[in-house]
Amino acid sequence: MGYLTTDKKKVTVKTFIEKKNSGEKIAMLTAYDYTTAGIIDAAGIDGILIGDSASNVMAGNADTLPITVDEMIYHAKSVAKAVSHALVICDMPMGSYQISKEEALRNAIRIMKETGVDALKMEGGIEIVDTVKAIVNAGIPVMGHLGLTPQSIHQFGGYGLRAKEEAEAEKLLADAHALEEAGCFGITLEKIPAALAAKVTESVVCATIGIGAGNATDGQILVYADALGLTEGFKPKFLRRFAELRGQMTAGVEDYINAVKEVDFPNGNESY
Ligand code: KIV
Repeated sequence: MGYLTTDKKKVTVKTFIEKKNSGEKIAMLTAYDYTTAGIIDAAGIDGILIGDSASNVMAGNADTLPITVDEMIYHAKSVAKAVSHALVICDMPMGSYQISKEEALRNAIRIMKETGVDALKMEGGIEIVDTVKAIVNAGIPVMGHLGLTPQSIHQFGGYGLRAKEEAEAEKLLADAHALEEAGCFGITLEKIPAALAAKVTESVVCATIGIGAGNATDGQILVYADALGLTEGFKPKFLRRFAELRGQMTAGVEDYINAVKEVDFPNGNESY
């Protein structure tokens, strides 16, 4: 958004907390490019995440580990340019905040300066709170991410439900409180039992955003390509497809191929 075009309805981190307090659910999707982000923003979404799931959805990698700070900046810059309403949050990729607090702060400031996003998201609990504090103290809003944290997938050994057992559930609750104390304005809760997500949500003042965490969280997020039916074969229980764009795109491409082959495109009106 430009210097002189202040949108009073622009969603901020404060709006997320207000929505939590008023009981209005927060709707979020991911986006990784200008065109898609523009469509999602114009439809009235509350928040857009440039997820490191760009590694899977945009680059075709098996997991989120390979994506770099430079690549996240490329995607985040494109998204931020398209958005005038939603809160724009960018994932800090694997390796950009784990080495040291100083390096994390340097990467966080770089992402903020070069992209124009509103906030950052980081995976992890108590082990990253000092880093979260340093970033928040630099004036950068941070969203935490607990439960299934894909950057640690090799430690978990799979994408199954997290925090089913008492000990892990207790650790997750303690992590949520530690993140909140460190200054997080929100926490993503991924693939955990609905009852645990409800317990976290009622015990923190920051906003919880769920994915595969039931409907008691303050909001929901889905990867846009899954939610709009662009991806194939990814069918976790929590996913609902709100459109079937893959079928529509395939039909459009087939129509185009046929029109070219039959010399129906371009016609006279489409020629100079
Ligand atoms: O990277 C991502 O898209 C995410 C969401 C699934 C929460 O972290």
